[in-house]
Amino acid sequence: MTKIAAAITSVEAWVPEFKLTNKMLESMVDTNDEWIQSRTGIKERRILKGEGLGTSDMAAPAVINLCKKRGIDPMEIDLLICATTTPDYVFPATANIICEKAGAKNAFGYDLQAACSGFLFALVTGSKFIECGQYKKVVVVGADKMSSITDYTDRSTCILFGDAGGAVLLEPNTDGFGIRDSILRSDGSGRVYLHQKAGGSVNPPSHKTIDEKQHFVFQDGQPVFKFAVTKMADVSAEIMERNNLKSEDVAWLVPHQANKRIIDATAKRMGVGEDKVMLNIQKYGNTTNATIPLCLWEWEKKLHKGDNIILAAFGGGFTWGSVWIKWAY
Ligand code: ACO
Repeated sequence: MTKIAAAITSVEAWVPEFKLTNKMLESMVDTNDEWIQSRTGIKERRILKGEGLGTSDMAAPAVINLCKKRGIDPMEIDLLICATTTPDYVFPATANIICEKAGAKNAFGYDLQAACSGFLFALVTGSKFIECGQYKKVVVVGADKMSSITDYTDRSTCILFGDAGGAVLLEPNTDGFGIRDSILRSDGSGRVYLHQKAGGSVNPPSHKTIDEKQHFVFQDGQPVFKFAVTKMADVSAEIMERNNLKSEDVAWLVPHQANKRIIDATAKRMGVGEDKVMLNIQKYGNTTNATIPLCLWEWEKKLHKGDNIILAAFGGGFTWGSVWIKWAY
């Protein structure tokens, strides 16, 4: 029997219109454009404005456009996995809300939480539902409204994050295209360096947690940076080695967009030149689960059938991973 692989057959994303520039941040916290650009590569990020709008409001239009582009009815979607760190609610799952808003009434859906590596974890999880032969159309969403958990008085984090949603459609492929290999890792001891202190079961929301701003992202940047530089590069090099991929075989590196310096280090370790690295951090900042689909969406027209693409991510938890894809269209 021919082995079924899961191939990406369509990509879409949705970004809010409002641009929060480095210049604007200069008037909010003690920072400057030069510092932000040289330390992170970020120039501006998008922010979702509007009362009552959440992560699903960015993901649902991406899913609707994804189906239009592929020429399918949302009713054909079997499963929708939403990778997010900023769900609409603690429960129900944001995936359910996206399905309802996008008209995917035959799909079951659930959320997956692995911070900035969530999209990769969800992509690999979704691919297994295709590979087993039971499901034909799986949508994997990466979406975050990071502005909802960002403290705009904390200069060490508020310069980093933006809001966006992206989605890919996975379908069976028996011609050798699609997701070929993956390495996913996690290490919970890293949680002390990057987490949201309150709002979960350990430290439920209270007046005290609000007063102490514990429902915002807390990050101790340097240890996270050091770990990210090593681990994202390690798994990217490992996936190449174990599949006998030389740097000249790699058409594109699609890295999580947290910091340009982390991306540069990963590309260097892989021996991949700058011209093969998808980089849009300057426009969107770190959109957590949306960074990778956002890159694929922006570069989609430049991709060719058979391209070897390496996706790589690193995030809170710690979590990290790499995925090798043979592009299918
Ligand atoms: N503007 C100006 N100065 C600043 C700013 C700012 N926005 N932020 C910090 N500084 C200052 C600091 O106070 C410090 O000053 P000091 O030397 O007088 O004490 C100096 O700049 C250096 O600060 P560092 O924190 O050491 O700066 P660093 O070079 O490490 O850059 C950064 C900080 C960009 C956050 C970096 O550490 C980083 O990118 N870390 C990894 C982020 C990441 O990958 N996260 C994982 C994904 S996120 C997720 O999963 C949700």
